[in-house]
Amino acid sequence: MELKNAIYQRRSVFKFSDQPVSFDHMMPCFSLAHMAPNHHLTQPWQFICVGERTKSLLADIYAQARALKKMGADDENFAQVYQQAQQKFLRTPAVVMVACRVDKDPMVAEEDYAATCCAIQNLLLALTDVGLGAQWSTHPMIRDERVLSLLGLDQQQRIVAMIYIGYPQAIPPAPPRQEVSDFIRLLD
Ligand SMILES: Cc1cc2nc3c(=O)[nH]c(=O)nc-3n(C[C@H](O)[C@H](O)[C@H](O)COP(=O)(O)O)c2cc1C
Repeated sequence: MELKNAIYQRRSVFKFSDQPVSFDHMMPCFSLAHMAPNHHLTQPWQFICVGERTKSLLADIYAQARALKKMGADDENFAQVYQQAQQKFLRTPAVVMVACRVDKDPMVAEEDYAATCCAIQNLLLALTDVGLGAQWSTHPMIRDERVLSLLGLDQQQRIVAMIYIGYPQAIPPAPPRQEVSDFIRLLD
């Protein structure tokens, strides 16, 4: 696929088919993500491919957060809402967490975060190119200590994205953007 087409065709995909996704199929996409620009070649990113055991532990944290957002833990509907959310998470064919190191120097930390975002965009484009759909999520659970610990991350690392991946069941239309000319300024 031409780069231009991948950029235009990449969408945040929310509905996936049941077709399983193998991490092996994604390996070339990680190689492309890894080519992202990064200052001083710090290569600050980590792509964590979530296996079934970890996915089910993440599903519990996701479900708890989702249910607690709607009601108290003692609400009679809590268990039902929890279970629905848990199943929704488990149905996602593949989950990749992208982490980034957090340098003690705030300037370096900012550059590393920016570089990791570049790597994520490369990854999303590469996934589009191989026919996979993905959604970048910054659900609050990416800042949850339990999640960091589950993924084996420490205080010198942060999670930048939880990426849901699968073969698209439906590709939403592009959300309309404002005219690009509104965002360009030419100075003399
Ligand atoms: C940093 C970042 C965080 C995002 N977090 C979420 C999220 O938590 N939930 C969600 O539904 N979409 C999330 N998105 C996806 C955006 O909502 C999406 O990119 C936007 O609606 C434009 O749609 P498009 O990706 O199809 O062009 C995130 C995107 C970015 C870049």
